[in-house]
Parts: sequence; structure tokens; C-alpha cells
Amino acid sequence: MVQANSGADIAVVGLGVMGRNLAANLADHGAVVAGYDLDADRRAAFAAAVPGAVPCAAPEDVLSVLKTPRVILMMVPAGPAVDALLAILLPGLAAGDVVIDGGNSHYDDTRRRARLTAESGIHFVGLGVSGGEEGARHGPALMAGGTVEGIERVAPLLRAIAARAGDGEPCFARIGPDGAGHFVKMIHNGIEYADMQLIAEGYHLLRHLGGFSYEQLADRFAAWNGGELASYLMEITADILRTSDPETGAPILEVIRDAAGQKGTGHWATTTAMQLGMPAPTIAEAVHARCLSALKDERVRAAAAFPAPPAPAVADPDAFAAGVGDALLCGRIAIYAQGFAVIAAGSRQFGWDVDLAAVASVWRGGCIIRARLVDRILDALRRAPDLPNLMFDPAITALLAEGEAGWRRTVGAAVAAGQPVPAMASALAYWDGYRSERLWANMIQAQRDFFGAHGYERTDRPGMAHTQWVR
Ligand code: 6PG
Repeated sequence: MVQANSGADIAVVGLGVMGRNLAANLADHGAVVAGYDLDADRRAAFAAAVPGAVPCAAPEDVLSVLKTPRVILMMVPAGPAVDALLAILLPGLAAGDVVIDGGNSHYDDTRRRARLTAESGIHFVGLGVSGGEEGARHGPALMAGGTVEGIERVAPLLRAIAARAGDGEPCFARIGPDGAGHFVKMIHNGIEYADMQLIAEGYHLLRHLGGFSYEQLADRFAAWNGGELASYLMEITADILRTSDPETGAPILEVIRDAAGQKGTGHWATTTAMQLGMPAPTIAEAVHARCLSALKDERVRAAAAFPAPPAPAVADPDAFAAGVGDALLCGRIAIYAQGFAVIAAGSRQFGWDVDLAAVASVWRGGCIIRARLVDRILDALRRAPDLPNLMFDPAITALLAEGEAGWRRTVGAAVAAGQPVPAMASALAYWDGYRSERLWANMIQAQRDFFGAHGYERTDRPGMAHTQWVR
């Protein structure tokens, strides 16, 4: 057995592709990494792939091969598996040890686990990890929630393995206490869902209304990726559009069934936004859009029963594509605005004191939603950390003003042709609603008071009022 304080620096429990890649990344940066997985093949793959690896035959064995205080990184599926593993580890842990949950756990679960471990002086760190397999191996974005002391203990390791932003800063930050890191990762995923949906709508409109070939589409997305729309998702979209199916030689998108899957973080982002009373309609629409797409068999039946209206011909494909580009950029602004507003609301609700600029800083590299716009957002938040909404920033307002006409034209053309654009349209409705001094909500208040005597606020004096409605 390895002697205490001459042992491994960190143990990774759960050696699926994310766990194994993080372990290899840690080893690249000089850490001695112990590892355990239920699956013997994964343990063997870990031992083979990670220099200096210390494979363990049982989860509790990691406790004795670690330097003290211990650092354990759990990379197991979110949900009951995390609680089960924690139950195994807890009896052998001591005050000062740090347990990191690097999965996509719900922030409420993280808050509960942080309370549980705090009773024994153990630091629980809820770590949002973004960047997929590649990111885990060569530089993820890392969003940590937990005690200052616990995170300080592991910060040197996490900083070392994190992606670097353009200015060389590591894409790692302590976001706040307990569930703050997982909360921010959840909103990251909500934005990810919404941006993927916007891009998917853009490709679909250009293909089916604009008549663009896959090759032309690939060129168009690659060109966008060289400008204001630059982002990781734009880059992989261009690559996807250029890819052929090795079996049939057909464009790969022609052989992929149009029914989207999901694992739940977009749904959590949506329900959390609703619980906080903070609008995030485009994130919600992206989740709904995946659900609707999954009703493939019903859609096939409905397509035969309810033909779409005849699509007006697109007279100028280049102008049409420019409008789609505007809708993508303005839509992207709206979804980041929604996401940051939900983070600010969560921070107020839970007393986390989240520094939104630190969130933007982490999202500059490594993560799935890294994008040129994130640099603009960071500038905006550095100029005015308390902006109520990102759309108030003058540089961002200028981008919206430039793209607004094209955004409207694109949504209008899609609606006229019966092409669904739920993300582009809901982002526009969010923007239009947000910038409307007077909305329809006076009618809603009147209706509520009419049928339920719920009362309403008047425009001419403070306090609640009620009307004796004539029925
Ligand atoms: C990331 C991703 C990652 C994962 C999502 C996708 O930031 O690296 O968000 O966490 O790809 O879980 O989730 P869906 O399967 O729900 O699309």
C-alpha cells in the first residue's frame, strides 16, 4: 500500500470516457491519479492510457492510496449513482478531504450533498465540466461550486487541466457555494440547447426554402464562423454539412433520422427559470422542439394529413441567407441574455453572489457554447456588472440594431412558408416583449380579477385594487 502523503494526488471514480480523459489530462499536468470503475475493462483502459495510474479494485480502496487530505473526483452518472458512491466513500473520509462531483448533477442535489458532507467537515465541490470528450482530455471549461477552502485546495489542479481563453487565462472559476457551479453548468446546457436549435433552424431554412446545396451550406457556415457568429457550434456545423455517409456516400444529414434525443439538463434549465420567474422562452422552446421532433411517427402521419402552405419562392438566396445570419446572431444574443438573467436570479435566490463576468470568462474557452459573442458579453459585464439584461449593453444593442430587420424578415418568411422556427421566433418575441413599455398584461390582470378576485395594481396609484365586475 502507498504511504499517506506519498500516494496519489487525486482519485477519479467512474472511468467512462469523460473520467478517463480527465484522468489522462490530470496526469499530463503531473498528478498521480488513482482510479476505480465497476467495469474491469475500463479499469484496464485507464491503467493503459494514464501514465503513472494507480488502478484500484474497489471504490473504497481509493481512500488508502491517496495523499491526505484526500481529493476524489466522482465521474459517475448524475442521480442515484452519485448518492450511492458517496455512501460508500463517506465513512472512510475525514475532515478536510475534498469530494468533487464532475457529472451533470442537478444543483439541488449538489446543495443537499454539500450540507450532508459539511456535517463531517468534508468539502463537497459540485463541478460543472463542459467540452465533451475532447475538452476533458485537452482542456475543459470548469465551473466550481463549494466552500472557498475546499475549492482553493483543488484549484491548482483544476486550473492546470482547464482550457485557456485567448488571453491565456484558465477557463476555471469558483462560481459560488454548494450548487452554484452545477447551476451555471445547467444554464450553459440550456444555452447550448437553444443555440443548437437556432443553428438547426437556420440550416433547415436555407436548405428547404433557400434551395442551398450541402456544399454551399458548408461554405456559408464556415464563412459565418470567420465573423461575428464565430463559435464552436458553428464550426462543427460546417464540418457536419461537409460530411458524407461512408456507407452510402449521401450527405450525412440525409441518413440521420430527424428525432432529437436529450438527457435532461435543458429541461432542468427551463423548469428552474420558471421556478425563479425569469423568462427563458428560447431555452424552453429548444427543449419543446426536441420533444416535438421525437414524435416522428405522428409527424409522418400529420405531414400527409395537413400539407404545408405553398412556399413563396426565395427571389434572392444571398439576401435570404444574410437574413438567416442576422437571425442566428440576434437569436444568440437573446439566449445568452436569457441565460445570464436566470443565473443572476438564481444567485439572488440562493445568496450565491455569482460574478457574472467570471462566468463569461470561463465560457470563453473549452466549453460547447464558446463563441465570439462571449467576448462581447465579458466586455459588457466588465463595463457594467449589474446590467439588468445583456441587451442593454451599447455594443450588444448595436449588433441587435444591425440584425433586427433581417431577423424579422427571416421569421416572417418562415411563418409564411409554414416552416417551424421556434427558437428564432421565440427569441424575437422575447426581445419585442422586453423592449415593450406597454404589454397585454393589463388584460390578463383584469381577467384574473374578473373570475378570481385576484386584484390588480393600478397605473395611477400604488397598492392593490379590485373591481366589482358587471357580469
Ligand atoms: C458539455 C455538454 C455535455 C453533454 C450534454 C448534452 O457541456 O460538454 O453539455 O454535458 O453533451 O449533457 O446533453 P443532451 O444529451 O441532453 O443533449
